[in-house]
Amino acid sequence: MKKSILALATAAAFALGSLSAYASPITLKFSHVVAENTPKGQMATKFKALVDERLKGKVKVEIFPNGQLFGDNKVLEALLLGDVQLAAPSLSKFKKYTKKLQIFDLPFLFNDMAAAERFQQSEAGQGLLKSVEKKGLIGLGYMHNGMKQMSASKPLHVPADAKGLKFRIMSSDVLAAQFEAVGATPLKKPYSEVFTLLQTKAIDGQENTWSNIRSKKFYEVQDNITSSDHGLLDYMVVTSAEFWNGLDKDVRTELKKALDEAVKYGNKVAAEKSMSDKQAIIDSKRTNVIELTKEERQQWADVMKPVWKQFEAIVGKDLLDAAIAANKE
Ligand code: LMR
Repeated sequence: MKKSILALATAAAFALGSLSAYASPITLKFSHVVAENTPKGQMATKFKALVDERLKGKVKVEIFPNGQLFGDNKVLEALLLGDVQLAAPSLSKFKKYTKKLQIFDLPFLFNDMAAAERFQQSEAGQGLLKSVEKKGLIGLGYMHNGMKQMSASKPLHVPADAKGLKFRIMSSDVLAAQFEAVGATPLKKPYSEVFTLLQTKAIDGQENTWSNIRSKKFYEVQDNITSSDHGLLDYMVVTSAEFWNGLDKDVRTELKKALDEAVKYGNKVAAEKSMSDKQAIIDSKRTNVIELTKEERQQWADVMKPVWKQFEAIVGKDLLDAAIAANKE
């Protein structure tokens, strides 16, 4: 009797073991809107490689670049519905989920990327990752792209040059206010439409990072790009609480580790590309790259910075002070 119970137990354990060996891996769909040869695209590729190496058979990462699956206006909804499991929209695209992240859109807030990094890693910055939790999302970390530049059909040296022009912006009220401050008309449009809108001259200009301007060929349909570094374009890597909390603890820990490493790698790519993509655009001779004098850049700051006051109550004075303080090492 004892023997047969033991035999049964052994058989059951064996069956279970082989079942788990053949259990299908968890599929993790990562949807983003940029090209693969961008900081975010490279980060996603690195993340997949690390997961393939470390969680083989347990987690399978599928990447959907170029807005193939979802544009940024839909991807957060898709996360909550379980249609994708990972996304990294620009911080300017979270308006429906939290108003606090609008702080990152304030023009001329951070002097450079090091200041943005310091703020993101500070207690205040890390606290902001939690601002989407009430809506069922989990902020897993920040990722850099870089400083934004302005491109237009005409040369932009001083704010008055932008008056009356139509600029595509991401879906952020701060960015709308920023262009209204210079007398321009902001239009919230999806990233996937920008090239065609510029090419057909339905709009006059846009703002973006050097890597986005290069990878999506905006410089081929814009005669002028002003090297303005007037604002930040960074990302939040997000997942849904339902997916993330449903994972085995070990898997979750490994995924977070792989993601942190991939983000570090992506940030390195971002720093390199902010210089090399600018140079490649200059070398292409397809567009006129304008370097501002100190006085000209100050004029843009003087006209755009009053926007901070409009949003101070929404983002919170303490948070704004913390961001400003991050400019000092
Ligand atoms: C944009 O819409 O301009 C950017 O958010 C694209 C991106 O993800 O870098």
